[in-house]
Amino acid sequence: MQRVYLDHAATTPVDQEVVETMNPYFSEKFGNPSSIYSLGREAQKALDRAREQVAQLLNAAPEEIIFTSGGSESDNQAIKAVAFNFSEKGKHIITTEIEHHAVLHTCKYLEKKHGFEVTYLPVDKYGLVDPQRLKDELRDDTILVSIIFANNEIGTIQPVKELALAVENHGAYFHTDAVQAFGTVDIDLDSLPVDLLSLSAHKIYGPKGIGALYVRKGTKISPLVHGGAQERKLRAGTENVPAVVGFGKACELSQRYREERNTKIKTLRKRLLDGIMENIDEVILNGHPQRRLPNNINVCFKYVEGESLLLNLDMVGIAASSGSACTSGSLEASHVLLAVGLSQEVAHGSLRLTLGKDTTEDEIDYTVKELVPIVEKLRDMSPLYSE
Ligand SMILES: Cc1ncc(COP(=O)(O)O)c(C=O)c1O
Repeated sequence: MQRVYLDHAATTPVDQEVVETMNPYFSEKFGNPSSIYSLGREAQKALDRAREQVAQLLNAAPEEIIFTSGGSESDNQAIKAVAFNFSEKGKHIITTEIEHHAVLHTCKYLEKKHGFEVTYLPVDKYGLVDPQRLKDELRDDTILVSIIFANNEIGTIQPVKELALAVENHGAYFHTDAVQAFGTVDIDLDSLPVDLLSLSAHKIYGPKGIGALYVRKGTKISPLVHGGAQERKLRAGTENVPAVVGFGKACELSQRYREERNTKIKTLRKRLLDGIMENIDEVILNGHPQRRLPNNINVCFKYVEGESLLLNLDMVGIAASSGSACTSGSLEASHVLLAVGLSQEVAHGSLRLTLGKDTTEDEIDYTVKELVPIVEKLRDMSPLYSE
């Protein structure tokens, strides 16, 4: 059976070049970067090099990069650190209804356990946040704004510059979760006035369990993990050197091949979307038609249940998602699809297909060929469809 992986927004396979770069750092160059002898200094040098590679992709300074265990930790670190550091100045945070749970649940926790007040900005039918609405919601006690750069479910890319500019003269910090945008969208922090930005390696063909938080020079944050003096005393713990090295290499490769990969992926995405739209009726494309991640398709098939769709696709070797990976297994419809105005029933019939650098034309054609009869079969079983 053919195997097709169309869930690159959930995670990506580690690039072979990345694996090769990481390998020596497990058993050969295994030193602790804090040790002063040469084995330790060698590991420290590898960390420095990786920090430069990550910073380069953002046009940032290496000392503005703090390595973490991934996107979730970076989001937690950014939001909790600002909240706890500035709670005397104010206890109001602004975020959106379509954040990843790493942001949403952190905000809910601060509301419930620490008395913060959180405003959840609505989005339009494409998933866009209005910068004027953000401006209107800013208050004297607002200390932080956190808005996702590109949504992990529907792929919509926010007008981050306009949003960050809306906050620039207010004094609140601006954080963006760029886990999905990083590596694909051009992010130039020299011209983008954001203070904190979250990243993760496993979305860009790097290893899992490693990520980073960009902290603009002068931004006052404090650690979540206390202990040693690693990461400028902002994240204690012996660094995961092989993973950091792999993350750095993945950034270098992303920078080198971004344009080429995006062009190829966009062509294949068009082929896939055309194939779906031409062969299946009553399909809704979710997210913005143009302002979206190049690899993302998110559609709702009316009268179809997303989980059944996924299981049927899996039976023919196709891996996809019906929302964010974190919500699968739950019966609740995606909060993102509800926020863009879909009904519970329609939102339940969603399918997210996310392409990768190694996706082929043959895989796209196979997916369309298999998807069409599966949707037909599921609709035939639905009493609502026959009505
Ligand atoms: C937008 C977004 N933020 C945060 C995360 C969490 O990242 P990690 O898996 O590295 O913790 C993800 C992962 O799916 C994501 O898509």
